[in-house]
Amino acid sequence: MTDNSLLTDLFSPVTMGALQLANRIVMAPVTRSRYGEDGVPNALHATYYAQRASAGLLIAEATNISPQGRGYAATPGLWSDEQVAGWKTVTDAVHAAGGKIVSQLWHVGRFSSVELQPGGQAPVAPSAIKAEGDTYTVDGFVPVSMPRALDTDEIPGIIQQYVTAAENAKRAGFDGVEVHSANSYLLDQFLRDSTNQRSDQYGGSIENRARLTLEVTDAVVRVWGRERVGIRLSPVTPDAGNTPPDSDVMGLYGHLIEELNKFGLAYLHLVEGATATSRRVPEGVDLDALSARFEGLFIGNNNYDLDMAIQRRAEGRIDAVAFGRLFIGNPDLAARLRHGHDLVVAPRESYYGGGAKGYTDWPVFAGK
Ligand SMILES: Cc1cc2nc3c(=O)[nH]c(=O)nc-3n(C[C@H](O)[C@H](O)[C@H](O)COP(=O)(O)O)c2cc1C
Repeated sequence: MTDNSLLTDLFSPVTMGALQLANRIVMAPVTRSRYGEDGVPNALHATYYAQRASAGLLIAEATNISPQGRGYAATPGLWSDEQVAGWKTVTDAVHAAGGKIVSQLWHVGRFSSVELQPGGQAPVAPSAIKAEGDTYTVDGFVPVSMPRALDTDEIPGIIQQYVTAAENAKRAGFDGVEVHSANSYLLDQFLRDSTNQRSDQYGGSIENRARLTLEVTDAVVRVWGRERVGIRLSPVTPDAGNTPPDSDVMGLYGHLIEELNKFGLAYLHLVEGATATSRRVPEGVDLDALSARFEGLFIGNNNYDLDMAIQRRAEGRIDAVAFGRLFIGNPDLAARLRHGHDLVVAPRESYYGGGAKGYTDWPVFAGK
């Protein structure tokens, strides 16, 4: 392909399972922390997502599947009727603008505080191992709390939380869902031997540690059908809680991807490297070799620019590319990339919290 046809290819329609996308530019899930304590989306959030609807696919910011799954104040939820109604205004606005949007189903596991948990209880995790770092409450930053290990007989209840949220996502008019098994949250905590020291069928061997992610995926597929379910993995990122990668990244994620192949999902979405930091990986890890084992469509992410997207597409390494931070300041990112327009780099202060400022007030490109 010539350079021009490579560019055209990125901006041509692609079908991911049952999702017909107008182009291969995906908006990565980006938490913006602009919700009230009820976690209900409103007109501001509808405007924000509709402004970005020219992406082939919007992956809405991580959304708490239950009160127990919540680890940060000001994040949205998908367990109450009010939240479903709020999300419906968002999905309607995105669809009216010609876009597609999926919901990222999120349970933070150990990365939470008793201040955020129902009844002030301890956060839940595969094992009682505390994360490092602070989380955000209405009173500001607080250290994360010591979690308690889930009993084996509590696992069906965790899976049910995903099912309920998946059903709610359907009622809310989403086009599908993404299982959030990345960034060191609950499912990723089960995957890694640094956070999972269980001795039941959900711990120990690679097969056992992959079990919860696979059972959740299976349950969500039963709600949505395989063609409207994607999954996000981040094999090496420390992200939430400074969580070390697994001692056998290639073995663990290789097994997981082989098992995921059996579902025939809409897509695999991988954070390549340390989330929003660097694309470096530990010695012995080859993320391209892992993603090549996935038999469906593959969305690459992390520190991409247009040239990297074109190059990796030309090499046949990605089917689509997800941009996170660039979508904050460039609502019309797809058009700007396509036409070589200037890009805005949104300051970090605009990422989290506040209202319309730094959120819905970024202009579409109107010349230099
Ligand atoms: C402000 C901010 C919020 C984020 N929120 C989420 C999230 O809700 N879910 C998720 O899986 N990743 C989240 N990420 C990670 C991004 O999806 C993405 O992986 C990361 O920003 C790297 O892509 P980029 O280089 O294009 O920004 C977030 C990143 C940033 C900077």
